[in-house]
Amino acid sequence: MSSESIAIESAEDAARRAKTESLLTPRFYTTDFKAMDALDVSPVRAEWDAMLAEYEGDNNHDHFQRTPEFAREVNEIFSQVTPELRQEFLDFLISSCTSEFSGCILYNEIQKNVTNPDIKALMRYMARDESRHAGFINQSLKDFGLGMDLGDLKRTKAYTYFKPKYIFYATYLSEKIGYARYITIFRQLERHPDKRFHPIFRWFERWCNDEFRHGESFALLMRAQPGLLRGGNVLWIRFFLLAVYATMYLRDHTRPMLHNALGLDSTEYDYTVFRITTEISRQVFPVSLDTDSPVFRRGLETLLEARKGFDAAKARGGLGGLLGQARWAVAGAFCFAKLYLHPVKRHDLPQQIRVAPVW
Ligand SMILES: [Fe+2]
Ligand SMILES: [Fe+2]
Repeated sequence: MSSESIAIESAEDAARRAKTESLLTPRFYTTDFKAMDALDVSPVRAEWDAMLAEYEGDNNHDHFQRTPEFAREVNEIFSQVTPELRQEFLDFLISSCTSEFSGCILYNEIQKNVTNPDIKALMRYMARDESRHAGFINQSLKDFGLGMDLGDLKRTKAYTYFKPKYIFYATYLSEKIGYARYITIFRQLERHPDKRFHPIFRWFERWCNDEFRHGESFALLMRAQPGLLRGGNVLWIRFFLLAVYATMYLRDHTRPMLHNALGLDSTEYDYTVFRITTEISRQVFPVSLDTDSPVFRRGLETLLEARKGFDAAKARGGLGGLLGQARWAVAGAFCFAKLYLHPVKRHDLPQQIRVAPVW
């Protein structure tokens, strides 16, 4: 059995889950620090300085603290949920904490290894925010005796090397999609407070404004290097858009109960998140995926079937299981390629780069 299918009952299970390397689990990244040091933000100076002033103002400095009601709500409400929902929620907390911490490590390493004052300041602010986010989620894991040893995770989890341009595409998208995910859940629970089965969701609105601002920072960094946004690089942008959207679709459909408990349907939720992310990403990407196209949607469903087939074959084991895994892996890759070739929407980039978090 893969560690992804083992129940989370102890801190060791949580740590093992956080260190699991698969297509769908959050990764830790490292990059070319010299290239990061050489970045020049002068083409976007005015917007850059305004953004750094916002970080300096730190409007969320008092946000990530638990109130006395937090523990009471965990005891009174979360203790009522089914064991299955509890497992999906713990899985959600562990993967969220791991990806928050992944950002914290990457930004902090860049900050330590550059002297360029613009990049150093930005990375220090973003590491500050992500460290608060990871710590806040970890407190909720600690309520169940599942707190993660983040120092150990930093030392022992595998790192993936990405050139700066891939860091920009991937991190921009994960920050913006993170915003879209949190705000969609927050708005849903504003409308249906009875569905709020854990107090952590109350924190999502101000939290996701941090993620939104992190995304703005990468938007400015990319717009300062227009070569990253045209020519052959557009093919990379298409690749990262699809990889990030498809990963989210597959991951969310492996924990449907979490969304159902919030009164959301995973498919509908994901398309809402895609729509918001696509609207925002027009600030920087000259193309976007046509996620409303029925052909595209069928493609994602086929990819999900391939994923489920692969997992079932893996669970079966033996030679038949291995052959099944190979067959489903090929089917999945073929489907991904078809989705990649699906026509995209093209647009001009706006003069004013920054957008406001109005969703
Ligand atoms: Fe974060
Ligand atoms: Fe972030």
